[in-house]
Amino acid sequence: MREFYSGSEKMASLVNGSYKTIKILSRLGIKPGFGENSVSEVCQSNAVSPYIFLSICNVSDFHDYKPNVEGVKNKEVSDLVRYLRLSHNEFINKDIPSVEFCISKITSSEGANPKHSDILKHFFEEYREELESHFNYEEKTVFPYVTGILSGVRKEGFSIEKFEENHTNIEAKLSDLKNILLKYLPAGYPSDVVYEVLAKLYILEEEFENHAHIEDRLLVPLVAHLEKTGEIIKNGR
Ligand SMILES: [Fe+2]
Ligand SMILES: [Fe+2]
Repeated sequence: MREFYSGSEKMASLVNGSYKTIKILSRLGIKPGFGENSVSEVCQSNAVSPYIFLSICNVSDFHDYKPNVEGVKNKEVSDLVRYLRLSHNEFINKDIPSVEFCISKITSSEGANPKHSDILKHFFEEYREELESHFNYEEKTVFPYVTGILSGVRKEGFSIEKFEENHTNIEAKLSDLKNILLKYLPAGYPSDVVYEVLAKLYILEEEFENHAHIEDRLLVPLVAHLEKTGEIIKNGR
């Protein structure tokens, strides 16, 4: 069985073994050109916490991974919040519009049935609204709460446990959208676009699932630890 990723392995071989880390590198602003450098060396020369980079990779690839929360530093948690915000931004401003573009090609294709078009457009719009409200809540309530904790201010009436309890699933409806396209949309629509949007939706579903894991299994335990200890250890790791 493969062990969890560590800071001493080469960055190039980590990416070779798991190409999905490319998105993580890109969101954290880590530049390519790794040479023979280790994960820790590459992260440090890009001013990114190796601990956060490795924890995100490990949570994404290993379901039994549990982060070590002892001694977590301010900068590490703020790197994580930055990563989550950038992910939201990418989902809303890049991935969802590209799905929308495919759906509009399907609904405006020659001979498209207006009934099918309405169902697809309506479903997609509802889903987009659901996503926006999920991300908005995190951006306007949860992340500011976390940054408050980092600066020593704790907002009353909220806790990270409360977020965890109410954290909803954003993939379920995506799966319904896939089923509409896979099962209920009859033949006759441009198949290249139907397959293209299906492939995008499968990738997005995996991305959303991963994103939720990073929030539930990394952000929540780190912040819960800070809430408990009431201090940020600034040196050490
Ligand atoms: Fe999120
Ligand atoms: Fe979330």
